[in-house]
Amino acid sequence: MNFLEEDIITPQIKEGLSLVESLITKIFSSASESIQKASLSIFQAGGKRLRPILLLASGTIREYDLEKLVPAAISIELLHMASLIHDDILDGAELRRGVPTINFALGKKIAIATGDFLFAQAFELLTVLDNSEVIQVMAEAAHALSLGELQQMETSRWVEQTEMGYLRRIRNKTASLFAAACKIGALLSGASLKEIKILTTYGDSLGIAFQIFDDILDIIGDEKVLGKPPGIDLRDGTVTLPIIYALEESKFDPRISEVVKGERVSDRDIERAIRVIEETHAIENAKSEARKHIKVALAALESLENKEVQKNLISIGNFITERYH
Ligand code: FPP
Ligand code: MG
Repeated sequence: MNFLEEDIITPQIKEGLSLVESLITKIFSSASESIQKASLSIFQAGGKRLRPILLLASGTIREYDLEKLVPAAISIELLHMASLIHDDILDGAELRRGVPTINFALGKKIAIATGDFLFAQAFELLTVLDNSEVIQVMAEAAHALSLGELQQMETSRWVEQTEMGYLRRIRNKTASLFAAACKIGALLSGASLKEIKILTTYGDSLGIAFQIFDDILDIIGDEKVLGKPPGIDLRDGTVTLPIIYALEESKFDPRISEVVKGERVSDRDIERAIRVIEETHAIENAKSEARKHIKVALAALESLENKEVQKNLISIGNFITERYH
């Protein structure tokens, strides 16, 4: 899906997004040949560009200054890409967005170096803004991302997990960057403290909902839409919300728990675990938990005076919910 071809975002935001896309391609073209090949392959494979869109949309709250917003939006997308490249190395993933991952196609070394390059570029770009608060927000988000990834690794293959632990992890791993996108957009457009707070809450709750939906899709999604086979979290022992719910409801059915523990991981075992999960209310319950967070996100926007921003952010929130129905 490409936001530039859809009616969800306004022409003003589309203009910013086109600049972001062409400048990112330009940055990659100036890199060494192997990094260029690696980063362009993953960038051109798609991606929803949700974080730059959130940053730009939040940046319309007061002065929509593309000279400031575009470098920040590029920076957040580069940081996101760096984290995905490193995530794929850690997971040994072979496919992302339907194309071979960098680690799979070009090897771990190129993948690590490409991730490092994008991470460094992301922060270098931010310095042009000469705004220490923006750098601080981004640095804290990068810190949270790595913490979330570590928490996920430390808890992998644990059958007994709490919903609270899961939420803490995804707040770090995913919601922190959504919240940072909204906060940075607000800061750069000169928003008031109250507006900054509202937009940050919106980003945080939207990010939580997004990750829950993503974790649901990993179980029930179609391979063509996912761009990778379903059941990867089960295979990796990543205990997501639908898995937590299914384990609880099925009283730790061995057909799920043995897969999570890594005792049975053949394709048939994974398919069977998915079927058992689908027989419980786990997917339905996880969807309703995600919708609760979308509601919190949209409710936060209610007191915004700028109705145009409110409308744009509501349609992005609704888009995320509808996409995963
Ligand atoms: C994808 O989630 C991964 C993340 C959202 C965060 C990854 C973070 C790191 C590897 C550490 C931080 C790195 C940097 C450069 C700051 P997922 O595995 O649920 O989604 P997927 O299905 O798309 O892989
Ligand atoms: Mg992953």
